Amino acid sequence: MARAWCEAKTVSSGQDELAAAFAERLAFEQLLGNLSALFADLPAERVVDEIGRALAQLIEHLGFHRASFAEIRGQGEPIEVICSAVRAGCQAMPTGPAPDLPWYLGELAAGRLVVLPRIPEDLPPQARVEAEYCQRVGLRSNLGIPLRVGGRVAAAITFAAFHHTRPLPGELVTRLKIVGEVFAQTLVRSRRDRELTAALTEIRQLKERLEAENAYLRHSCHKRSAPALTSRSPRFNQILGEIAQVAPTRSTVLLLGETGTGKEVLADAIHDLSDCRHRAMIKVNCAALPASLIEAELFGREKGAYTGALARQMGRFELADGSTLFLDEIGELPLDLQTKLLRVLQDGSFERVGGTHTIRVKVRLISATNRDLERAVEAGSFRKDLYYRLNVFPVAVPALRERSEDIPLLAWEFVKELSEAMGKPIERIAEDSMAALLAYSWPGNVRELRNVIERAMILARGPILKVSLAVASAAVKVPADGLEATERAHILRVLEQTHWRIRGAGGAAERLAIKPTTLESRMKRLGIKRAHSEPSSSG
Ligand SMILES: Nc1ncnc2c1ncn2[C@@H]1O[C@H](COP(=O)(O)OP(=O)(O)OP(=O)(O)O)[C@@H](O)[C@H]1O
Ligand SMILES: [Mg+2]
Repeated sequence: MARAWCEAKTVSSGQDELAAAFAERLAFEQLLGNLSALFADLPAERVVDEIGRALAQLIEHLGFHRASFAEIRGQGEPIEVICSAVRAGCQAMPTGPAPDLPWYLGELAAGRLVVLPRIPEDLPPQARVEAEYCQRVGLRSNLGIPLRVGGRVAAAITFAAFHHTRPLPGELVTRLKIVGEVFAQTLVRSRRDRELTAALTEIRQLKERLEAENAYLRHSCHKRSAPALTSRSPRFNQILGEIAQVAPTRSTVLLLGETGTGKEVLADAIHDLSDCRHRAMIKVNCAALPASLIEAELFGREKGAYTGALARQMGRFELADGSTLFLDEIGELPLDLQTKLLRVLQDGSFERVGGTHTIRVKVRLISATNRDLERAVEAGSFRKDLYYRLNVFPVAVPALRERSEDIPLLAWEFVKELSEAMGKPIERIAEDSMAALLAYSWPGNVRELRNVIERAMILARGPILKVSLAVASAAVKVPADGLEATERAHILRVLEQTHWRIRGAGGAAERLAIKPTTLESRMKRLGIKRAHSEPSSSG
């Protein structure tokens, strides 16, 4: 860049003047060409640095002391100094919000050129703040050029001279405006690129999640349709009520209960009653995977995190972002993963296996176990702090023998479902079979009942279903829960047989050889109640 075109020189002859003007124009064309080439395909992250470098060159060659470039986002928004160059010994212009110079910034934002070769003389009377500022820092000449991109004032470039004035001829202004416009256009393009990149990243992440969710759904689409949750047991009905209450909150739920009691069914019910029902509930069985794989399963992994990790994988936590995550068999989670899980529960953040980038999620957590977690905490195999985090809303799911009122209902539900699937119409369950079902202690709970009915359905010939408990019951004839449960089951069985008739000949009281009033008070004590729409055991 030549000095000739910019410095105001006194030229002796017309020829010299012409030569100087020509050299000056040439130098400018060269500068503009260089800048245009440099800025044409500058990566977004280098734009600000390069503008700063160009400003430093400009002040050096044009005899200014300071040049700044500012972004104007829109009407009423603060003007931000993006970069600035200053010669040693002069007041620097810090990046960030522009200094409070209302008249000057107002002119630039409105798209008006500000040419002040002699300060303070050239300042209008209303520029009081500006006059005070110029005096304080020793500013004597200033040029402010608003820069339009796509018809809108998007930026401004300013040049200042300190301690002595500097002429600002029209030709110089025109040229600096062209240079400034190259900067402004590059800045706007880089902002757009950045927004575009951010949008594309977001789209990519969304796509990745949808793909993973689809793969997950395809993988688990064998899920049976949710059973209608009805019950005749006061205890189970109370639990259904609690579940309906906690479902719409985003509280963490812990389902506790023996194997086969329906913990997963209840987890599904909670999700289906929550605001996340339009999304899939993501399940992880902590007992089904080796410890080495659960971590990647839960938190995802980066490509090459370990031998065999070929592709980036999204973890279940990310997949469940904005939805429900069901951690089944939580009692089996290894201790080191308990620590990682605790951190996610505390601040919602984690890193993928082999990754350094922190991922944040909002996930509603439901966990379940058939283990006694309190005992596991005492034994040191389960972290106490994690236990308290999970135990926000505990639900103790009763064993089937504690809700034997539901045995006929559930048995009949399974018969209906299977008879349809197998094409075997069944009219009713044989009375002695129902009595046996009611007397049995069901260590495998609802799952075992389903299996027993399925076996019977496979063997069924004719419309009356006979259920054999021979195999299952041999080992556990005597209920392990003591007198009360046995008494309860016995009374229920008799009530089923008498179709809930208590009094009179052949009534339940007579069969049990007690007074009807005694039976009634005992039923009350044991919480045995006949449901309103009591179907007979034959359905
Ligand atoms: N109320 C219900 N109505 C119909 N079917 C049910 C009901 N509750 C449970 N089941 C069935 O019983 C079986 C066991 O239920 P589930 O898997 O939810 O039990 P679980 O408590 O999670 O058992 P585990 O501790 O062994 O995992 C499933 O086939 C389920 O469909
Ligand atoms: Mg389960």
